[in-house]
Amino acid sequence: MKTLTITRPDDFHLHVRNGAILKTVLPHTARQFARAMIMPNLKPPVITVTQALVYREEILQAIPDGVNFTPLMALYLTTATTIDDIQQAAQCEHIYAFKLYPAGATTNSDAGVADVTKIYPLFAALEKYDLPLLIHGEVTDENCDIFDREHVFIERHLIDIVKNFPCLRIVFEHVTTKEAVQFVESTSNKIAATITPQHLLFNRNVILAGGIKPHYYCLPILKREIHRKALVKAAISGNSKFFLGTDSAPHYTHLKENSCGCAGCYSAFGALELYIDAFESENALDKLEGFASFYGSDFYGLSRNVETIMLEKIDWQIPASYDDLIPLKAGEVLHWKMI
Ligand code: DOR
Ligand code: ZN
Repeated sequence: MKTLTITRPDDFHLHVRNGAILKTVLPHTARQFARAMIMPNLKPPVITVTQALVYREEILQAIPDGVNFTPLMALYLTTATTIDDIQQAAQCEHIYAFKLYPAGATTNSDAGVADVTKIYPLFAALEKYDLPLLIHGEVTDENCDIFDREHVFIERHLIDIVKNFPCLRIVFEHVTTKEAVQFVESTSNKIAATITPQHLLFNRNVILAGGIKPHYYCLPILKREIHRKALVKAAISGNSKFFLGTDSAPHYTHLKENSCGCAGCYSAFGALELYIDAFESENALDKLEGFASFYGSDFYGLSRNVETIMLEKIDWQIPASYDDLIPLKAGEVLHWKMI
C-alpha cells in the first residue's frame, strides 16, 4: 500500500456560508484541515468584529465532536469601514485579515468597493496594524472581457497599491493567470497568492466544450491552458509565495443549474485529494507539504501545525452529490484518499 504522510494542512481561502449548508460543508473541511481562513461574503456581509465573533460561534457549533479545527476570521472591507474598525480588528485574537471585493465582482460583493483609491486610508491602517489584505483581484468594468479581468486589475490597481503601501501584506487570492504568477514572483515578500484546485486541474474548455457545465463555473473564471500551466509551475516550484486556498464555494444545485447560475466550485469534500492529483501528475508530490502545510502559516505568522495526516493511494469515486451540493468532478475518480 502506497501512503503519503504530511503535516496537517490549512486552507487559506474558504467559504462555509451559514445556516444549514454550513453544517454540511464544515465537517468536510475540518476533517482535512487544522485551520481555514473564512471568507466574509455572507448576506449581510461580515463587516465588524462583533459580527465576525457571532459568525465564528456558529462555525464552532458545526465542528463535529472530537475534531480539532480553528476558523480564522476575515472581515469584509467596505467604504463604510472605519480606521477604528481596523484598530478593533487588530486587537481581536480571532481576526486575521480583511478581504477586498471590488463591488460586483462575485457572489455577495454588492457591498464591496467601487473605487479602490477611495479606501487608501484604510490600506494605510492595515499596513500600520500589520493586518493582511486579501484581494479578489478582478476589475468589474463591463467593457473588460471576463477573461482579462484579473490581469487588468494588476495593471490598474495592484501595482499602485503595492507601490503606495510597501509594508502591507497582501494575498492575491485565487490567482488564475500567468500574469498574476509573474506579478507575485516579481514583487516583495509581502505579496503572496493562493491557488485553488480547480485552477490547477482545469482550463476553460471544461466549462464550455461539449455542453455547458455550471459546476466548473467559478470566479475568477477558468482560463486558457497556458495559464493553468503557469499556475501548476508556481504551485510545484517550492516558492513559498504560493500556498493552498481552495476557494471551496458551495451553492445549492438549483442555484448552480440555473439560467443565471452562481459562481463557485464545491471542493471541500476532498480538497487535498484534488490537489494531490494535480501535484502527482507533475511528479511533484514532494512539493505538496510546503504548499499545503507550511507556506501559508509562515506568511500569516502562525505556528506550523504539528499533527500529521495520512493519505493512501487508492482509487475512489466522488459521489454525485453531498446533500444538495454537487461536488467538483462529481462521479469521477480520484487516486488518493485521506485515511
Ligand atoms: O466562484 C466564486 N465563488 N468566486 C468568488 O470569488 C466567490 C465565491 C462564492 O462566494 O460563491
Ligand atoms: Zn472566494
